[in-house]
Amino acid sequence: MGANVFHFSPKKMWMNDPNGLVFYKGEYHLFYQHNPNDIVWGPMHWGHALSQDLLTWEHLPIVMEPDEIGGIYSGSAVVDWKDTSGFFDGKEGLIALFTHHRENGQVQSLAYSKDKGRTWIKYNGNPVIQNPGKQDFRDPKLFWHEDSQKWVTLIVYGDRIRFYVSQNLMDWDYTGEFGDKDGCHDGVWECPELFELHVNGDVENKKWVLKVDVGNAYAGGSGGQYYIGHFDGKTFINENPPEQILWLDYSKDFYASQTWSNVLDQSTGKPRMIWIAWMNNWQYANDIPATEYRGTMSCPRELSLKNTKDGIRLFQNPISEISSLRRILRKEPVVKPYNQSIIEIEYLHEARTNFDIPEKVKALEVNCCVKVNHSSEIGFRIRYGNEDHLTVGYNKNSGNLFLDRRASGHVDFNPKFSGKFEVPVLLESKTLHFQILTDKNSVEVFVERGRYVLSSLVFPKDRITSLECYAPDGNSEFLEFEIYQLEK
Ligand code: FRU
Repeated sequence: MGANVFHFSPKKMWMNDPNGLVFYKGEYHLFYQHNPNDIVWGPMHWGHALSQDLLTWEHLPIVMEPDEIGGIYSGSAVVDWKDTSGFFDGKEGLIALFTHHRENGQVQSLAYSKDKGRTWIKYNGNPVIQNPGKQDFRDPKLFWHEDSQKWVTLIVYGDRIRFYVSQNLMDWDYTGEFGDKDGCHDGVWECPELFELHVNGDVENKKWVLKVDVGNAYAGGSGGQYYIGHFDGKTFINENPPEQILWLDYSKDFYASQTWSNVLDQSTGKPRMIWIAWMNNWQYANDIPATEYRGTMSCPRELSLKNTKDGIRLFQNPISEISSLRRILRKEPVVKPYNQSIIEIEYLHEARTNFDIPEKVKALEVNCCVKVNHSSEIGFRIRYGNEDHLTVGYNKNSGNLFLDRRASGHVDFNPKFSGKFEVPVLLESKTLHFQILTDKNSVEVFVERGRYVLSSLVFPKDRITSLECYAPDGNSEFLEFEIYQLEK
């Protein structure tokens, strides 16, 4: 089993955050934090890969390496369509804004590419944004703000976010700060993101989403939180109470997510918000079992905002392109009409059903709707040979959704890795929908069509040998059950 049917990993050595995500001339660029000389974090370079479909990646040479100013930390990229920077002789080109890491205060710098992202030239006037006083000042997210007709960048500054605007990408004005009292401040903030989405697809109802990662998140260690509100061109205004924390993920391995800039839906012409994250956690990132390379990205996920009983929430779903990888392994049941609107199942009558997974299968997708009114617990146990397993499920008594990797194989390489991660679920109906994407080293769980997400690394000793569905004291709990092999 390999990890790479739908996940990006470097060819060798160390990788952390995705950087500079931009779609340009039919190509998705993925740059990433990379140490080409060791399998642990070290002097940071920008590695590079390209894809036309976000599923198959071509490895390209490193584009930036540490220089006299410092290491090349995280940042983002855009298309400068109108040559506002003057780098492109009146034509268009790609611009990256990234952090130069120095011990005496991080600063922000520019680089540009005239050859569709293959090679990058660092601006000779770097840095373009000086350090305002604190060491931690990094991870600029750059975008064009249509309403104010300006470039905007947001940069983490300790546990706050600073906003700057510019006309030419070189001269920047500070316009405001966000986050003083908002959300979780347990640890340093990193990798901010800001984008606009329609609520429930309603063009009249747009909201801005601000995401920022934090050192000690929901499940312990690295994780992301988000806010919903308004961006006025100068700063972000949170529309929820400041003490409310909205988490992106309820397990431990989804960090430093970034959206691709410039992606439009082919059929509607509207922007598509797709992001990817580093599937890892700084608590143990340098210790995870690895030989050739260390680091994997999450599957690319499409973002949307929807109304729920809790209020408006961010939903994440695997990009629809993933369905092109599906090869049906099992589709159950043969449904029999029950009444006009409900379908009842005939087949999963046993408390446990085991599906053997053929050896050739490298990655799996499980889609299932489960009833939650009978059994005290329902779930899926991914088995790796006879001993190791990982369980995903819902417990009716606690009302929690969970992912348990305590018996999943190699878990002792770091004391912070093993665990059962849980989240209370507010049921919208008497069923829960699960979509699980998994390969030998990862499990990504999307519940209620992306409302709750649990992303987890896993290091079993064997391949995935079977999938067990269990519901100890309930019959017919599993509706609309599909298992796919994912394959290129
Ligand atoms: C997040 C991070 C960023 C930084 C980069 C360094 O994982 O710590 O804040 O720019 O990684 O590699």
